[in-house]
Amino acid sequence: VSDMLVDSFGRLHTYLRISLTERCNLRCQYCMPTEGVELSPSPQLLSQNEILRLANLFVSSGVEKIRLTGGEPTIRKDIEDICLQLSNLKGLKTLAMTTNGITLSKKLPKLKECGLTSVNISLDTLVPAKFEFMTRRKGHERVMESINTAIDLGYNPVKVNCVVMRGFNDDEICDFIKLTREKPINIRFIEFMPFDGNVWNVKKLVPYSEMLDRVVKQFPSMKRLLDHPADTAKNFRIEGHCGTVSFITSMTEHFCAGCNRLRLLADGNFKVCLFGPSEVSLRDPLRHGADDDKLKEIIGAAVKRKKASHAGMFDIARTANRPMIHIGG
Ligand code: GTP
Ligand code: 5AD
Ligand code: SF4
Repeated sequence: VSDMLVDSFGRLHTYLRISLTERCNLRCQYCMPTEGVELSPSPQLLSQNEILRLANLFVSSGVEKIRLTGGEPTIRKDIEDICLQLSNLKGLKTLAMTTNGITLSKKLPKLKECGLTSVNISLDTLVPAKFEFMTRRKGHERVMESINTAIDLGYNPVKVNCVVMRGFNDDEICDFIKLTREKPINIRFIEFMPFDGNVWNVKKLVPYSEMLDRVVKQFPSMKRLLDHPADTAKNFRIEGHCGTVSFITSMTEHFCAGCNRLRLLADGNFKVCLFGPSEVSLRDPLRHGADDDKLKEIIGAAVKRKKASHAGMFDIARTANRPMIHIGG
């Protein structure tokens, strides 16, 4: 493991999130503004070979887990090839994807053959009409079908990401949890986070403590599980349920001290923190012929600039970042 991935607080970064595209087949309100976002012209996006070159560099320096994000990663025409090549990188233990599940049930069998080891599927409501309101598109049934396909293919647990917003879906938390009785899913309730263009407001945020209070009232046997040190989620189990329940508390109890994540965006920018506005291009030096040592120097310097934690929700909400759709979470 090289020093490149260790920051000035001693955190070792073994998890790389790669955004494969800025496009999406949904228009979720918490992810992008009504008018959509400007898309980078495609020559500015990383090609499959460029992604592979950079991923190879990260993995040979100590990255053990890659998560593919977007936009919606399955939109990329070369997604199967990308999975196949990445999964063959020596030293990579986990190849994961975060997806909205719209086209996943069709694509997942092949993606599994190509080496995809885990999937996180976003689903914010169990009510089709509310799904259409939030995503500005149809597709609730297809997402449900994808969750079932993932279970049938043996993904365990299938993580289901649910961004909780007051007045929209906070009345559905216990309904989601009921699904864990029979299904081997891990339902993850996520605190609503501010990004450019998503009209964040603290009143829409349902704090972890409040969610937990409500859930424990209805499911008193719910017990906290041991944490993995770098996990984004606080995990719980309910007696008699085969699935599990988690909370991702980025806003009210951040988990930055254990952060092991780095991000490569679709346009080749490298981002060391989800909320850190500073980015450095890896695409440009790559295209100008930089060798591995030069790229490692650029990456290492950016990692060393990483802050101890994010600045707190109110500062984050005021600081220019990117829309979520460009970052991929
Ligand atoms: P696992 O690898 O399965 O643990 O998933 P993950 O939680 O790392 O990633 P996922 O894409 O499923 O994201 C779930 C939620 O966690 C989203 O709201 C992400 O924005 C958020 N998230 C992911 N990574 C980070 C991070 O490094 N910091 C913070 N604050 N939130 C993150
Ligand atoms: N706050 C919290 N989570 C978000 N996600 C997208 N936008 C936000 C937000 N504003 C989630 C998506 C997806 C994951 C990558 O991030 O639902 O599951
Ligand atoms: Fe890591 Fe930044 Fe997320 Fe904190 S906010 S966990 S430092 S990426």
